[in-house]
Amino acid sequence: MTETATAEPDTQPAASPFERIGGMAVLRAVTDRFYDLMEQEPAYAELRAMHAADLSAMREQLPGFLAGWAGGPRDWFQANPGKCMMSMHAPFPIGQVTAGQWADAMRRALAETEVADREIAEAMADVLTRMAKGMARD
Ligand code: HEM
Repeated sequence: MTETATAEPDTQPAASPFERIGGMAVLRAVTDRFYDLMEQEPAYAELRAMHAADLSAMREQLPGFLAGWAGGPRDWFQANPGKCMMSMHAPFPIGQVTAGQWADAMRRALAETEVADREIAEAMADVLTRMAKGMARD
């Protein structure tokens, strides 16, 4: 009997970056670490000064945004129709310094948080760094 049976093609859809990193609990832990670093580290003073005194709203907003952006639940996008990165940030004088601080704090937060898949966390850090640096207007 010849073995002509071909292997069933893998019909499982590839896991989204959201699922691979560990879902909402991990994104919340990452963004909490991000805002803790922004509050505690003098290296991020200019970035901190650009934000509101109370960061609790951002501790809700950013994980919601990142979840939809990473292929997970799109609640933030449904709750904020038409909001885009540029319009959200138009009021803030983002330059190389604050963009670099945002990227550095996010890379550290991803590195210092327990995640389900380190490879996807590093890929996210690379993409978010490019996004942040692309927002500098100086
Ligand atoms: C380039 C560096 C960046 C700076 C300096 C910056 C700064 C800010 C500031 C000052 C706010 C308002 C916060 C407040 O009201 O306290 C904000 C809002 C926000 N930022 Fe950024 N941001 C940067 C990059 C990013 C990136 C790369 C993302 C997402 C990947 C992001 C996602 C958000 C979201 C979701 C909000 C909430 C907007 C809203 O709902 O109105 N930011 N950002």
